[in-house]
Amino acid sequence: MTATPVLSIRNASRHYQSGDSIVKALDDVSMDIMPGEVVGILGPSGSGKSTLLLIAGLLEPPTLGEVYIGGERVSYPDAMLEGLRSFRRHNIGFVFQKANLIPFLTALENVALALEIDDVTPRDARDYARWLLGSLDLAHRRNNLPKQLSGGEQQRVAVARALANDPRLILADEPTAALDGERGKQVIRLFRQIATEADASVAVVTHDPRVLSLFDRSYELRDGRIVKGHHPRQETA
Ligand SMILES: Nc1ncnc2c1ncn2[C@@H]1O[C@H](COP(=O)(O)OP(=O)(O)OP(=O)(O)O)[C@@H](O)[C@H]1O
Ligand SMILES: [Mg+2]
Repeated sequence: MTATPVLSIRNASRHYQSGDSIVKALDDVSMDIMPGEVVGILGPSGSGKSTLLLIAGLLEPPTLGEVYIGGERVSYPDAMLEGLRSFRRHNIGFVFQKANLIPFLTALENVALALEIDDVTPRDARDYARWLLGSLDLAHRRNNLPKQLSGGEQQRVAVARALANDPRLILADEPTAALDGERGKQVIRLFRQIATEADASVAVVTHDPRVLSLFDRSYELRDGRIVKGHHPRQETA
């Protein structure tokens, strides 16, 4: 018996019109991520990593190809956009390449905000937000505004915010770029812990060689195509 991938991308391409020419930001890419997996997405600048993540996060439709979440095909007619937004809010945690925190809310409020939807009471939301910030060593900074935080601290608040709604799919675009080696590993380890405990799936775009050994496997992109897959956990025992 094989499990259903949390995320399955089939032959996806994303083309952008740029003047008279077409940029193939993504060119016939297929990718599966299974429950509990933590997968890296590597590749040089401009190779299509962020584009792939936006498609995986249902933030952009592929020009060609299909996306399946939990085995269900995602469709993108305009009439569905509100439904897609709600689905994303409940199921997908996204860490953007820039932290994008709300400037007039404290760290704790930024994290708890993602939780204050539907069935979570504000108090539980704040307790869980506090736990998330604590596991990223930010408990003492929780009442600071973003401008009172360092770049790396803001990035970790953005990670906590993406995890707040217990997403089954976590997508992170260079979440460790502003962090030192130990902090970077701490973020990936937290992803791993949540993947294991909640059977969530995680895809992380990174240039950081120090975290590669923490992934179950990784995909490498070049010019919009997947050129190879790695299994670093097996290679570097
Ligand atoms: N909205 C857009 N319009 C036109 N071209 C775009 C657009 N978004 C991305 N591209 C192009 O698509 C290619 C892939 O971009 P993408 O942002 O996915 O790269 P990346 O691998 O994330 O790079 P980086 O490591 O620098 O963040 C690039 O050549 C980029 O210029
Ligand atoms: Mg990018």
